Amino acid sequence: MVENMADSGEDTVIELDGIDKIYKTKGTLFGRSQKDVVALNQVSFRIQRGEIFGLVGESGSGKTTAGRLIVRLEDPSRGRILLDDEDIVAHKGKALKRFRRRVQMIFQDPYQSLNAQISVFDTIAEPLVIHKIGKGPERRAAVSQAVKSVGLSPPEEFLHRYPHQLSGGQRQRVAIARAMILNPEFVVADEPTSMLDASISAQIFNILLKIREDMNVTMLFITHNLAAARYLCDRIGVIYRGNLMELGPAESVIRDPRHPYTQALIDALPKFGDCGDIRHYGTLIKAHNEDADGHTGCAFFPRCKVSHRIRCSREVPPLAEVGESHLTACFYAEAADAAGPDADACYLGT
Ligand SMILES: Nc1ncnc2c1ncn2[C@@H]1O[C@H](COP(=O)(O)OP(=O)(O)OP(=O)(O)O)[C@@H](O)[C@H]1O
Ligand SMILES: [Mg+2]
Repeated sequence: MVENMADSGEDTVIELDGIDKIYKTKGTLFGRSQKDVVALNQVSFRIQRGEIFGLVGESGSGKTTAGRLIVRLEDPSRGRILLDDEDIVAHKGKALKRFRRRVQMIFQDPYQSLNAQISVFDTIAEPLVIHKIGKGPERRAAVSQAVKSVGLSPPEEFLHRYPHQLSGGQRQRVAIARAMILNPEFVVADEPTSMLDASISAQIFNILLKIREDMNVTMLFITHNLAAARYLCDRIGVIYRGNLMELGPAESVIRDPRHPYTQALIDALPKFGDCGDIRHYGTLIKAHNEDADGHTGCAFFPRCKVSHRIRCSREVPPLAEVGESHLTACFYAEAADAAGPDADACYLGT
């Protein structure tokens, strides 16, 4: 694999290789049988050093699950996760602790990810304490620097506050500073702005871009919003019910989406001049129908407005190349292309 990467000029930091994640759910009080939830189904992709890779999909598509697996908050049911070619799934003890220095996660809800009883200073300094890095004055300098780098200035004004004394945007900045204090190589940012308004979201995006620049960190950015992914990401993966449907450079996926699902997501984005009527989405994509589950073909087939073909209900389309570095899992990518959306009209909403 190393030779292959050298050949293609790639420098992979994280690789998911054939990942399945199946949650066993408990039966109901009334004794209904246990039903497995397939959160990720044979997901494979690579994230290159220095890039921001966007994982995009609707609620429940498995985005957070993928992020949690990468930072080892959970284990996959099957498959390998490689950090610099080393399988991290079996890491324990010291190896896991070393791994935790290198990979960090920023969560969706800073209310939950920050401890209400701990001051900003202690919140950000805690990873240094856990990993026994530096002494008092060095830690204070590192925390001040981290606070400054997320735009909380002057630092002294914030260091002794508690989470309830901060706005939502300031709390998320503290969470970012905490994630960055160990100088990680890889960061998962899981919908870090979904609780924030559009202008604060844009500020947070710019902080993430600056951090990537200054600290040379690689990121997985998880979002349901393609417009946000377009603004931030170099490449985008589109996921639907645990299946990777499309993968490619951000501009290529947005301007030239080949999968009917990606196309519907783009068409449903609010455009300049309208107020983003969510009902429009219903005209592009059929409602999810549990009864249609259980077919052996494409996961999107029951909701697909493009294909009514028997093949789609029987065979799973593989991710296949449709352009330069652009892959899609659709037998009828051409048909999806025919009704291409007006990508230029996308605006940066939240
Ligand atoms: N601990 C769990 N036990 C059982 N099922 C789970 C668990 N965690 C997630 N799931 C299920 O796995 C699927 C994927 O969930 P996940 O949280 O990864 O989706 P998501 O794409 O992050 O959604 P959202 O955009 O709403 O955050 C969902 O069907 C969810 O109900
Ligand atoms: Mg999620």
